[in-house]
Amino acid sequence: MNTDSALKKRLMSYARDDRDYWSFRGKAVREHAHAYLQYPAMMVPQMQGELIKVIREFAPGIKKVYDPFVGSGTVMTESMLQGLDFVGQDINPLAVLICQTKKGPFFEKALHKKIETLLNIIAEDSSHHIDIDFPNIFKWFRHDTSVELSRIRRAIRLETSIWSRRFFWVALAETVRLSSNSRTSTFKLHIRPSPEIHERNISPVETFKNIIQNNLVKLSEIKKLLGEKGFLEKSKFRGTIDIKLADSAKSPLSPNHNKDRFDLLVTSPPYGDNVSTVPYGQYSYLPLQWIEKADIDSITDDSFLSTTHEIDRRSLGGIRNAAIEASGELTKISKTFSQTIKSLREEPRDRTIRVSAFCRDLNKCIDPILSALNPGAYMAWTVGNRRVGKRTIAMDKILSEFLLARGAIKIVTLNRVIPSKRMAVKNNISSTMRMETILIFKKGNS
Ligand SMILES: C[S@@+](CC[C@H](N)C(=O)[O-])C[C@H]1O[C@@H](n2cnc3c(N)ncnc32)[C@H](O)[C@@H]1O
Repeated sequence: MNTDSALKKRLMSYARDDRDYWSFRGKAVREHAHAYLQYPAMMVPQMQGELIKVIREFAPGIKKVYDPFVGSGTVMTESMLQGLDFVGQDINPLAVLICQTKKGPFFEKALHKKIETLLNIIAEDSSHHIDIDFPNIFKWFRHDTSVELSRIRRAIRLETSIWSRRFFWVALAETVRLSSNSRTSTFKLHIRPSPEIHERNISPVETFKNIIQNNLVKLSEIKKLLGEKGFLEKSKFRGTIDIKLADSAKSPLSPNHNKDRFDLLVTSPPYGDNVSTVPYGQYSYLPLQWIEKADIDSITDDSFLSTTHEIDRRSLGGIRNAAIEASGELTKISKTFSQTIKSLREEPRDRTIRVSAFCRDLNKCIDPILSALNPGAYMAWTVGNRRVGKRTIAMDKILSEFLLARGAIKIVTLNRVIPSKRMAVKNNISSTMRMETILIFKKGNS
């Protein structure tokens, strides 16, 4: 039996013994670095870790993993726990910041002292100055909340090392999420009723203290795990981790990426355009207002905050112009896409545009992504089939056909029920989003 068939057999054997194996029901816990911050639609760490582990048994030469939709870095941390090098990118600066923080270093003792100093500086700051400004700031934050958030922000800016500032910014991001006037029950920006805003008893400083202290415990847990496996040297991960703010539909990875290609792709792209599925950008808009942008991947241009929807507009499917025109090309490579568009004819035209724009952009990602992989590299894509109107959009089939059109080889398809997709139901993401497919492919040999 060749390696591909053996891998297929192995992956399928789990589901044969336990139909729900890949769902990781009851085992989907977010521990250590995976729990620094809530990010929408995070993958189940244990599931991604297991996939990497099994694939490596059949391709022991794997050294470098790639996730072009890295989000909160679930695949990154799982790769680190297996001692692998990793490159990840995302269009959302908040995702990049989380990953930059999760990758370490893990200077636990130094951080402990720095947190003490930081909290003292915050406690001694009695200024009422509000350090940031953006349109509708006092719609989204109470005045007293803004004063406290400013004290935290000022103290963080005094910290001299970037690794600790990033650790602090992540805790501030979570503090902003919990203390803003936007509801926490949805990923969308959705203002709370006025009486609730005024009656809420929330102190950002106290919230921040709790989060940062909990995150330090989580850092010590991941440090211990990596240390026990021998993957740390002087409290830094021994391998290389590279995180970039980039559009995966465009980005050629690096000028010399021919020699830096990846041995394995593990990723989960969005289910559809952000506006009608998961608005990662709206979710990140308020936290990003308070964070020093230059500390995230040396950002100098903050036009991604020009409106509450700008990050979502830049994400896959966010630009609807010329989407219908692009669909002609897509129908040639994907029979399922073609059938989907036909089936949407009776529905409002906006739905066809939305689906076409998303598929056009996902398709644009395929060539740059494949060109970043070594010939014969395995890929694990986790995708969800969403509903638009009354139709289910079979993204698993569409993506498979996009890959097959480029000579990629299908190994196996695994199904999983999503154990708990936080807030998905409240966001009107239909029930089929609760099923996911893991597509295992292999890049052709060219
Ligand atoms: C399903 S999430 C990934 C979640 C991740 N696996 C985790 O566990 O946190 C999809 C990610 O794709 C990102 N994304 C959307 N469009 C993108 C693009 N054009 N280029 C790069 N990333 C993009 C979103 O910002 C989001 O973080």
